[in-house]
Amino acid sequence: MAEHVETFRAEKIDAAVLPTLSDDDLRELGLPLGDRKKLRAAIEALGGWPPAASTALSESLAGARPRAVAEQRHLTVMFCDIVDSTPLAATLDLETLQSLIDTYQQQVADCVARYDGFVAKFMGDGVLAYFGYPQAHEDDAERAVRAALDIVAAMPTLRHVDGLELACRIGIASGVVVVGDSITVGAAGEKSVLGETPNLAARLQETAPRNGVIVAASTRTLVANLFDLKTIDPLTLKGVGSGIMAWQVIAARDDASRFRATRDPSSAEFIGRDAELALVLDRWSVAAAGEGQLFLLSGEPGLGKSRLCETMLAQIATETHAEIRLQCSPYHVNSPLYPVLRHLERAAGLVHDDTPAIRRGDFARLFASDEEAERAILLLGPALGLLDAVPADAAPSGSKTEVLVLLQRLLIAPAAEHPLCILVEDAHWIDPTTQELLSLLIERLGNQRVLLLITHRPEFTPPWRSPIHHTRLAMNRLSTRACTSLIGDLARGKRLPEEVVRQIVAKSDGVPLFVEELTKSVLESGLLTEEHDSWGLDEPLPLLAIPSSLHDSFMARLDRMASVKEVAQVR
Ligand SMILES: Nc1ncnc2c1ncn2[C@@H]1O[C@H](COP(=O)(O)OP(=O)(O)O)[C@@H](O)[C@H]1O
Ligand SMILES: [Mg+2]
Repeated sequence: MAEHVETFRAEKIDAAVLPTLSDDDLRELGLPLGDRKKLRAAIEALGGWPPAASTALSESLAGARPRAVAEQRHLTVMFCDIVDSTPLAATLDLETLQSLIDTYQQQVADCVARYDGFVAKFMGDGVLAYFGYPQAHEDDAERAVRAALDIVAAMPTLRHVDGLELACRIGIASGVVVVGDSITVGAAGEKSVLGETPNLAARLQETAPRNGVIVAASTRTLVANLFDLKTIDPLTLKGVGSGIMAWQVIAARDDASRFRATRDPSSAEFIGRDAELALVLDRWSVAAAGEGQLFLLSGEPGLGKSRLCETMLAQIATETHAEIRLQCSPYHVNSPLYPVLRHLERAAGLVHDDTPAIRRGDFARLFASDEEAERAILLLGPALGLLDAVPADAAPSGSKTEVLVLLQRLLIAPAAEHPLCILVEDAHWIDPTTQELLSLLIERLGNQRVLLLITHRPEFTPPWRSPIHHTRLAMNRLSTRACTSLIGDLARGKRLPEEVVRQIVAKSDGVPLFVEELTKSVLESGLLTEEHDSWGLDEPLPLLAIPSSLHDSFMARLDRMASVKEVAQVR
């Protein structure tokens, strides 16, 4: 396999492009059938990605470019600095000031580490952090913004005895960054040393209000609707330009569904999943008639699990029924009952800034009797902020079993009135307590009018066994026909040149998310001219690049492969 490394290098096929190569591409590069098959097998054995990437090859390429040497990565960069430390310096002695700044930097580093980011550099009082390096995740931009909000939230704890309070400003931008041990940084914010993206983050930081977070357009696109953002006036930034758009982050949104929060409303019609949709709808009708159903839907990210569930719910919208959504979160895999507590907050309409007394009143309305409500407030009060003060040494007011039984009854209660669909999204991020709660719920499902629909990625093995009706569906990739029709729909019904369609189909490998992103990036690239009923291609189509919103997940995949390699070497 090693003999192909030179070919890949000559064709400028790096780790980012590698997983996108189709079988045709590999044939064009002169790989014989045997080697193409081996590549497929290697990838599929690793949990599968477009069956074109090669562990062996990516390892060789990674070996040719060790991590210690500068490397180009698509990252989200955060720059955090202290607001005007001069008055502090005038009031405090040097030692006290230094210890305050040390504590601040430690706190920033802790928040960055919480989201698996990387502190690249301390620059004066400032901190430059990367999200996406050395470990990439699918959601690095979101991680950066969450870390920034945590830093801001922690600032009030950095108060000096004199009442002086430290404040910070944060700027965030996403883009390609040269990383590795070659970063040498001079004066903060110098473009030549920092590179474009970190420089933009540093400049945005300067424009932020006290304890404010500003994001660049590149980051805003990646976090879509996960946060409440406020548009600010276009900026003129030194070394960057004028008319720069930027947004201030107000707060994280707690939407009931990540799918709806990140979904682009301009996306295409639902295509090519008729059989899957029919199956879920069939199980719904069985459940609605009183035979509880468990439905486990698995598939790789981007295959369309959430879209299928949303389409199914839209189809039954005209039937009288109840819906409960439990959205698991990648940031709360160890936070007991996280998705359930968020559901209860939404169901009770709890308002963040309300007093515990008002929150108690709202919460109590979820219960039929005062007695039940009182007990629930005692049990869940600390987790939901319903109590005025909790003495630090207070004994737990109930056993875990009692809490789980209460929640199980609460979840299933609407089924007494109407058929109920409980949608648990992204169970690969479920916390152990919610997992237990679902087990309890499943035991009681038998004669309830409930469809418990759970989505998860293939690497998660659902622990639930159902004594009753139980369906598993592993989603497949979309057929070429369905992909082609999806592309047509995204092209607003206008015909695309055959070559463009062929490349998108090949590169996206049946994953609708990739079809969507590649089509959008081709349409926005300016390579095509929109005509009356078609799109014209004026010059030869270059090899399609991976759009930035996908870059993260490709890199995540490659990093996972790299760690498999390390394990293999130890053996
Ligand atoms: N059958 C389909 N028809 C059209 N678009 C689809 C289809 N399935 C998925 N998509 C689109 O692909 C993207 C990824 O789908 P999503 O449901 O979020 O995947 P998953 O939940 O499996 O990660 C979404 O933008 C979605 O609208
Ligand atoms: Mg989803």
